[in-house]
Amino acid sequence: MSSIKALFSAPFYRLIHRDFHEVVATMPLTDKILFLIMHSVDKFGIWHRLPVLLGLTYLAIRRMLQQTYNLINVGSTPVGVRFNHVDYRTSDGKLNDPSNEVAGSQGSFFGRNIQPVDQRDKLTKPDPMVVATKLLARTDFKDTGKQFNMIAASWIQFMIHDWIDHLEDTQQIELIAPTEVASQCPLKSFKFYKTREVPTGSYDINSGHLNIRTPWWDGSAIYGSNNKTLSKVRTYKDGKLKISEDGLLPHDEDGAAVSGDVRNSWAGVSVLQALFVKEHNTVCDTLKREYGDLNDEDLYRHARLVTSAVIAKIHTIDWTVELLKTDTLLAGMRGNWYGLLGKKFKDAFGHVGGFILGGLVGLKSPQNHGVPYSLTEEFTSVYRMHALLPDNLLLRDTSAAPGPNKLPPLIEEVPMAEMIGLRGEARLSQIGFTKQMVSMGHQPSGALELFNYPMFLRDLTPQDRDGKDRPDHVDLAALEGTERERLLGTMNSVGD
Ligand code: HEM
Repeated sequence: MSSIKALFSAPFYRLIHRDFHEVVATMPLTDKILFLIMHSVDKFGIWHRLPVLLGLTYLAIRRMLQQTYNLINVGSTPVGVRFNHVDYRTSDGKLNDPSNEVAGSQGSFFGRNIQPVDQRDKLTKPDPMVVATKLLARTDFKDTGKQFNMIAASWIQFMIHDWIDHLEDTQQIELIAPTEVASQCPLKSFKFYKTREVPTGSYDINSGHLNIRTPWWDGSAIYGSNNKTLSKVRTYKDGKLKISEDGLLPHDEDGAAVSGDVRNSWAGVSVLQALFVKEHNTVCDTLKREYGDLNDEDLYRHARLVTSAVIAKIHTIDWTVELLKTDTLLAGMRGNWYGLLGKKFKDAFGHVGGFILGGLVGLKSPQNHGVPYSLTEEFTSVYRMHALLPDNLLLRDTSAAPGPNKLPPLIEEVPMAEMIGLRGEARLSQIGFTKQMVSMGHQPSGALELFNYPMFLRDLTPQDRDGKDRPDHVDLAALEGTERERLLGTMNSVGD
């Protein structure tokens, strides 16, 4: 019987890359067929050129399969325990999932999309310094033309500072440039902190890494991921957050910005943080006008819910659609947000039906597909989009009359190295909110391509969690080449 089955299935498996054979063998027949459809479209690389309805069908199949086969929990999960529901966002992300107190909280595990593969002995194969030098390092700057500007590039870093940051160990690893490339490496050797490996208490995946930011979309880049940071950014008056007279973030005595997350940042992110602090404060004013009996805590909690939702909405239906600029993505992202019934219906009647009719936003209960919410190691890996950064910020004169395309005249090309960390904060204070934002709006970001990794990040002063500079410089391109020693499998198994 099994040989007859093998005879019939052999031609099927010939159509599928061998990396997927193991997982496909576990699928029921319908999923096998759906997988074959998705895989065939992938082989031709045409999903984004399909007519919108076919493209959406492809995306729906892919999403269903990945929800079923590519969500892997790391850590042990409380089963059958219900916690008190709270209708606001807690400082550390706890209690957001009504049936799992710690899901998505600060210090929870990064999840996985594929099973970990032990690559400890492969950390330097191929050598990350060689990869950084021969494949990543920027030769000529390639930009994204009119598609993606520096506000959009700063936006994704602003999101990263809301979602993910790996807890480090106290032990350092040293990378040394092999002679073959040493003369072209800005740092001949450098040290970086290992990612802390933590026992999960579970049998399947017995160790993992902790996220020191709350992975929820909860605006933690401005509110912080714990009570200590939150108490630094709140004014405790009318629900508001602290902002300086000049409309930028306040600073501590060392010149570090005071905000939810200020580590390894630059002026472009700082100015977005300031913008959303102002948004939060405006929501507080409006709420106070309408509901005079709300106290400071009520106003803060409501304004945070509104501001976090605005951030998530901008990311979903503006940012993502601009990054992956196709009609299919536009329809898919609006479908995620508003559902088939559309915006007008949702604005008028609220969320009706399940996620297909009403969209994912506003569902009555969380849908986690049986796996507690987390962001994953693979997600972190693909979001390392450092090539978006140019070499210089093109500063424009916002007080002068604009030229063609409403472009204000260029006044200075400021090296990006001057716009990062503590130096960047001081420079931003001289430049001011408006000039920084308008200049970024007129400048294309770097393209996500090989040979386009900014050189200033190859000799970078990294920072501690409090935004203070570390003594040891790092070559970020090489550091990323190690895949951050986090035991990733091949990207093929993610289905990409
Ligand atoms: C001037 C701006 C930037 C600086 C100075 C900077 C610096 C850094 C540094 C030092 C790390 C830690 C590397 C490590 O230990 O593995 C890091 C990680 C990372 N960066 Fe950036 N970065 C910048 C912009 C961006 C942008 C535009 C993105 C776009 C998405 C980005 C995404 C990430 C991600 C996903 C990580 C990994 C986080 C983790 O390991 O949990 N960064 N960056």
